[in-house]
Amino acid sequence: MERCFVMLKPGTVNRRIAGEVISRLERKGLRLVGVKMLNMSLELAKTHYAEHEGRPFYDTLIQYITSGPVIAMVWQSDDCVTLVRKLTGSTIVTEASPGTIRGDYCCHTPHNIIHASDSKESAEREISLFFKPEELCADSVCVRY
Ligand code: PPS
Repeated sequence: MERCFVMLKPGTVNRRIAGEVISRLERKGLRLVGVKMLNMSLELAKTHYAEHEGRPFYDTLIQYITSGPVIAMVWQSDDCVTLVRKLTGSTIVTEASPGTIRGDYCCHTPHNIIHASDSKESAEREISLFFKPEELCADSVCVRY
């Protein structure tokens, strides 16, 4: 079973569409194993996005992600990272297909409403930044799919 870190960005919470976005992941059959709402500190934002430091959009990204509450989540399934990235759609909103989360809910790339890990390794690094192992419910019994 693979895990993927997903974060609903401040615009999702402000626009009251968090439930709709979470429903899409649930409808796919992915399993939510961790969730928390928080205001990201500048330090956490910089650590989370460390690999993008120096890119032209970096300051905008940090400013946006710390501008209000986010909802941090861990989802689990076989091939979870690939499945979540397909549901999420392209980073650049003009390239995000209708039917994907970004394709249906965003029209401005800096406010592209959702973050999803881009690899299994990133997922594990990001999960450990936001969650302690005991905050995840990954081991409880459940019916798969
Ligand atoms: S990705 O998902 O890592 O492959 O995307 P990448 O293109 O490398 O972008 C890295 C993160 O920067 C965000 N981004 C932007 N923010 C503000 N303005 C602009 N123009 C912009 N372009 C990209 C992008 O959404 C990625 O953040 P997350 O949180 O992963 O979405």
